Amino acid sequence: MNLEGKTILVGVTGGIAAYKTCEIVSHLRRSGASVRVVMTEAATRFVAPLTFRTLSGNPVAYDMFVEPDEWDVRHVSLAKAASLVLIAPATANLVGKLASGIADDLLTTTVMATRAPVLIVPAMNEAMYLNPIFQANKAKLEALGYFFMTPDTGHLACGDVGIGRMPDPDRILQEVEKVLSMGDRKDGILSGRTILVTAGPTREPIDPVRYISNRSSGKMGYALANASSEAGARVILVTGPVALPDPPGCQVVKVERAEEMHRAVLEYFGQSDCVVMAAAVADYTPADYAASKIKKTGGELTIRLSPTVDILRDLGARKKNQLLVGFAAETENVVEYAMRKLREKNLDIIVANDVSRRDSGFESDFNEVIMIFRDGSTISSGRMPKIYIARQIIAEIAKLLPEKEG
Ligand code: CTP
Repeated sequence: MNLEGKTILVGVTGGIAAYKTCEIVSHLRRSGASVRVVMTEAATRFVAPLTFRTLSGNPVAYDMFVEPDEWDVRHVSLAKAASLVLIAPATANLVGKLASGIADDLLTTTVMATRAPVLIVPAMNEAMYLNPIFQANKAKLEALGYFFMTPDTGHLACGDVGIGRMPDPDRILQEVEKVLSMGDRKDGILSGRTILVTAGPTREPIDPVRYISNRSSGKMGYALANASSEAGARVILVTGPVALPDPPGCQVVKVERAEEMHRAVLEYFGQSDCVVMAAAVADYTPADYAASKIKKTGGELTIRLSPTVDILRDLGARKKNQLLVGFAAETENVVEYAMRKLREKNLDIIVANDVSRRDSGFESDFNEVIMIFRDGSTISSGRMPKIYIARQIIAEIAKLLPEKEG
C-alpha cells in the first residue's frame, strides 16, 4: 500500500479496541501517509496520547480548547487537509452524536467540517450494536454517504460472544485503501460531468383526489444522486413524489406524472453526460381525467388506461454521446429479460433486480442487483445498502464515459 501524499485523520474513541488502532496508525505511517490522530477524552483513558504521538510522528489532539505545543492546525484546516477520516474504534456514543449533528469535541467538529470520505469502524458489545437506536443511526449516516465496516463476531471484552469486535488491523487497512481509491469530491471520478438521475414513482391522476402509483420509495435513485455528487458530478435529480430529504448539492426537479417527468428529462438531456433512469415510471395513465371527484354509484367502475411514453426508449433513440443506464425489475429470467430491454432501448448498462425477493428492492434500504453491459458481461453487487450499490454503479459509469476533450 502506497499512501504517499495522503493525509489520514484517525479518530479514536473510548473503547478497549483502541489498542489495536496503534498498529493501524503505525502501518499507515509506514505506508507513506501523513497521520493525524484525534482522540476523544474517553479514548485517552484507554491509550495514552503519547503512544499515538510517537507512532504517528505528529502531535495528538484531544482537547478542543487546549492548543498543544506543536499543534498548529485547527479542526477546520485539519478537516480540509484530510484525504480520509478513519474512526476506529467508533463507540455507539460517537455514531449517535454524528447522526444527530452534535459537534461538542474536537473529533465530532472535525468530522462535521470535513468533505473527505469518513470510514467508521464500530466496536462495542453485541446488544449495543444490534440496538435499533444504533442501527437507525448507522443507517442514517450510511444514507448520507458515510462508510461503515461490519464488526467481527467472536469473544467480546465484556465476556460475551457475539458481533461487535473491531476487525483486525489488516482488514481495516484494506478498507482504507478501497475507500481512498474511490476518490473524493475535490478530485472525484465524475468531476466535470453532469449526471441526470430520475427517482421515485410517478403519480397518474384519475380525478382531483385519486391517482395510480406504485411502491417505489425513491431510495435507489436518491442514493445514485448522492453517490454521483460524492464523485464530484453536477447532479440533476428529476424525482416523483417521495418522502426523502433533497440530496445535498443536487439540483432537484419535482414532478408528478410520467408526462411531466418526460418533459423535465428532455429539458436537461442535452447538457447531460449520462442519464440514470431509476424512476419507476407508470406504464399506463388514466385515459380520461375526471375534472371533478368521481362519485360512487354502487355499480362497477371501469377506468380506461392509455400507455405513457417510454422515456428511456425515447432517450435511446435520441442519444448522441450520452451514456444511458436503465433499471429492470424482473421476477424471472432476470438476466435474459433485462438484456432484451438493454438492446431494445439502446442502453449502455441495465441494472436488473429480482423484485420477487422480499429482503431487497422496493422500500428496502438494501438491494441486490446485476449490472449488465452491452457486450453481455455482468457484475453482481451482492446484497448491501443501496448507497454502496449506487457507488458501484457510479464507478462503472465513470469507466464507460468517453474521455473529456480539452
Ligand atoms: N421507463 C421509462 N419510461 C416508462 C417506463 C419505464 O423510462 N414509461 C424506464 C424505467 O425508469 C427503467 C426502465 O425503463 O429504467 C424499466 O423498463 P421497463 O421496460 O418499463 O421495465 P419494467 O417496468 O420492468 O417492464 P415490464 O413491465 O415490461 O417488465
